[in-house]
Amino acid sequence: MTGPATRCVAAVIGHPVAHSLSPRIHNHWLAAAGIDGCYRAIDVPPDRLGEAVAALRADGLQGWNVTVPYKTAILPLMDRLSPAARTMGAVNTVLCKADGTLSGFNTDGIGFLKHLNATVPHWPKDRAALVIGAGGAARAAAAALIDTDIPFLMLANRTEEKARGLAADIGRQRITTVAWDALSSAVTAAGLIVNTTTLGMTGQPPLPLDLSTAQADCVVYDIVYAPLETPLLRDAAARGLAVVDGLGMLVHQAAAAFELWFGAAPVYDDALKSDLHKALA
Ligand code: ATR
Repeated sequence: MTGPATRCVAAVIGHPVAHSLSPRIHNHWLAAAGIDGCYRAIDVPPDRLGEAVAALRADGLQGWNVTVPYKTAILPLMDRLSPAARTMGAVNTVLCKADGTLSGFNTDGIGFLKHLNATVPHWPKDRAALVIGAGGAARAAAAALIDTDIPFLMLANRTEEKARGLAADIGRQRITTVAWDALSSAVTAAGLIVNTTTLGMTGQPPLPLDLSTAQADCVVYDIVYAPLETPLLRDAAARGLAVVDGLGMLVHQAAAAFELWFGAAPVYDDALKSDLHKALA
């Protein structure tokens, strides 16, 4: 399917990037669409971002994804930015135009919201959403949620200053910050709780969140996908709350990128689902 002679048509750059699931996802879709080409993971060492972008621009790719730690650093290397990339201050998808110019997009917010809407279509929009964390993933989730009908957004981060900065950057009125030691007290008011921190990831301690006061229709979304069922999601499910895992966000953001590059919406079929579940097992 992707032999050594296969032309590279898209890629992901990051550092480290070897464990990225994006090649599995995009190579599956390229094959399904009958596109002759492959998607590669390219490890870009620190201080080589400019060089790497120049090489990718010259190689005639349709575009590429950007992951940690370059989502913000790549901004000044773009010729144009989408409104979402500008709001989030981060680019996760680059589109190379035929004239050689580069457009920076951010599909993380779309991926976040599409997966939520697909998994729990009637999630409570009449109460506040609580987003935990203030890194790039929180930025994407917060920017997507503030454009929904929720009355307001609560942001909680260990370093509260970063949550305040995020609220200011998103620049809307409907955001409040919650002190880290008051995290559990925000649970009762929340219709949606989103973990965007690294807590709960394999090798990390679980998120210290007491869900005992959550309302029965509260939805718990963890963007961590390794493991697929985090301690937070296990606890939420045991309490009968609706849960949303992080893998679908990854797939939906990838789908939006694929569509930008190749003009066709890919399908998250059973073969891809089982391949990704196997990779995460
Ligand atoms: P990403 O861009 O993937 O969101 P990030 O920018 O490294 O990743 O953000 C990681 C998030 O996890 C941050 O909100 C971080 O909190 P701080 O801003 O206080 O660093 C949060 N985080 C990581 N380890 C944590 C821990 N042990 N306890 C609480 N929060 C933690």
